[in-house]
Amino acid sequence: MERLRTGWLALTGKCAPADGGAKPACCPEDATPTPVAEQLAAYCAAMFKAPDPSATEKQLAALQPIDKSEGKTQHTKGVYEDHWGKRIDGLRARIKAGESIGYLLRTLRPYPHGTSQRNRVSGAVTDHFLKDFPLLHGTRGFTGRIEVVNGRYQIANNVDPITILHQETAKVTNIVELGSGPGWNLFDLFVLRGAGGRPVQYFGLEYTDAGIECASLLQGLCPGMSLTSRQFDFTKPDVSMVPDNGPTVFFSHHAIEQVEDISPDLYEQLLRRKTPWSILHFEPVGWQRYEPLLRARLSEDLSQHRALASGRLSAMGSDFAVPLNAAINSWRVGYNRNLLPILAGLVDAGRLALVDAIYDFTSRLNVNPVNPTTYVRLQSAGR
Ligand SMILES: C[S@@+](CC[C@H](N)C(=O)[O-])C[C@H]1O[C@@H](n2cnc3c(N)ncnc32)[C@H](O)[C@@H]1O
Repeated sequence: MERLRTGWLALTGKCAPADGGAKPACCPEDATPTPVAEQLAAYCAAMFKAPDPSATEKQLAALQPIDKSEGKTQHTKGVYEDHWGKRIDGLRARIKAGESIGYLLRTLRPYPHGTSQRNRVSGAVTDHFLKDFPLLHGTRGFTGRIEVVNGRYQIANNVDPITILHQETAKVTNIVELGSGPGWNLFDLFVLRGAGGRPVQYFGLEYTDAGIECASLLQGLCPGMSLTSRQFDFTKPDVSMVPDNGPTVFFSHHAIEQVEDISPDLYEQLLRRKTPWSILHFEPVGWQRYEPLLRARLSEDLSQHRALASGRLSAMGSDFAVPLNAAINSWRVGYNRNLLPILAGLVDAGRLALVDAIYDFTSRLNVNPVNPTTYVRLQSAGR
């Protein structure tokens, strides 16, 4: 996990103003390029000049972009109609057998690891071990923890998207997930909040019919949960079904990843709302803040990508291995390439405020090391 620099919430990896003038709005406290950005720039320049000859043709062929010749969004819809569709009969049978929503969620996705519990002994060990990782103490507190694996201490991530969402949605009127699939996250939040307390309206906005059908099956297990499921597409966003009637949290979790280029109109619609709102993204887009990676990804130039990929195994121990592999993965599977540029543009224009960020981590919801999650929370800059 790249460590969060306290108070350093830049959406780009290199924020130094070109002319030595004012700091960009997206980089409030630190206007120097990060060492990672510098190292990445040097790596990219070297590989473009002379790709690493040790990369075999077989290794590079495995990174060939996947075939989406029937159309990129159509391909994704087909993949997820199939992915969620395969769950429908199983869910139906388990619901019929009397399984609860809590049991279904815990067995469909592993239970979250605990938070970092500290007493005098564990606190001392943790502090000693973590002294080399001071940046794990970010704006949200401690973002890492010690884990014991095979008789050895090691650092593990302690960021859990559902816990963050639970904290951020404590006092809202509407909770809206964009690209919600079967609604696992919304049901998790419902179970965590419990049936009592402040009433809240949930919205599961999803691209596929199969995802919506799964959500409607699970909703049957949650009497008292007010959930509206609707079709939604990040390329033609429409959130007009969410009433402008009180504080609203919008969020996405590994859904924008599926869409190469989302429409910026989503944020225009949010900015027109009269009641307070925030948007939390948990998406594998941290690599987009490194300009050479983004430029190579946007170029769609196969030789550039092969050059970058050629040295990636030799660079595995470097500080930039995580964003490098994430960019290569995004390119291979046709994942998102425009979320951070859109957000950085709106922050720089003074329209959105970036209020929280943790870059590049895996979690219990996403364990893919080449597709790490980045969390950003934004709201209207006027609030
Ligand atoms: C990896 S799943 C994540 C589902 C859910 N957010 C979660 O965390 O469990 C990706 C989801 O993105 C949805 N998706 C794909 N393309 C989309 C699009 N153009 N607009 C909205 N959602 C989309 C898929 O249908 C799928 O449900």
